[in-house]
Amino acid sequence: MMSRPQITTQIDEIVDGIYRISSRSAAFGGITFNQFLIDDERPALIHTGMYPLYEAVHQAIGEVLDPSRLDVVALLHFEADECGGMDRFLEQAPDSTLVGSALSIDLNVGGWAYQGKTQGYRDGEVLDLGHHRLRFLETPHVHHWDSMMLFDETTRSIFPADLYIQPGDQPPIVTEDLGDSMCAFYRAVGIFAHEQPVRDVVERIEALEPAWMHAMHGGTVAGDAIPRFTRALREQPFAYQGALLGRQVVAAEPS
Ligand SMILES: [Fe+2]
Ligand SMILES: [Fe+2]
Repeated sequence: MMSRPQITTQIDEIVDGIYRISSRSAAFGGITFNQFLIDDERPALIHTGMYPLYEAVHQAIGEVLDPSRLDVVALLHFEADECGGMDRFLEQAPDSTLVGSALSIDLNVGGWAYQGKTQGYRDGEVLDLGHHRLRFLETPHVHHWDSMMLFDETTRSIFPADLYIQPGDQPPIVTEDLGDSMCAFYRAVGIFAHEQPVRDVVERIEALEPAWMHAMHGGTVAGDAIPRFTRALREQPFAYQGALLGRQVVAAEPS
């Protein structure tokens, strides 16, 4: 029987009750998978991780609060690393609400076998957790149709999902300029169809003057370093160029 590669998970407080839960494994293709816990009156988990990450993420949450208290579970687009654990988190927190963009909830979760409460949000709407206030940004085609991001008004934090990614095993807080390797990584994995929808969103993000960028893969980018990543997104190509996860896609000839 083949043994599964080991997953290592650590949890670190980044700022004011926002914790980064970071998992790494030889099986993850050189990136970390991060979830974010917000310890508040209404505790929130921003993305769940894939189904097999559940035990590790659940255990890490347990170091801070009772996971059955989770009130909000957010997905930023409908994809395995965003919401693969949604049913398992619902099982241990049956009163929790799964939140996402209106499109994620209506189109995708609504067509799935999810049994819990759901709530879809449109651009500009706010979810009050008690101390933290999460403002929803609809960001279609960054990189999915139903994509959104969250802006925590309290800490001026953005939860950008797969934007501001950094490959490799990064520390909880990144201050280095990794803009070049971010764009090279995007070109190799092919997650964006086009640069323009991303650059439009980057304009909006810049206007919010974020102090923290809680990347789903890599570390949280600290405020002073964010403009360097933003500049790379403005100046360098990063859209799909024919490669998917490092493999050049070649159309097969009809046989
Ligand atoms: Fe994604
Ligand atoms: Fe992701």
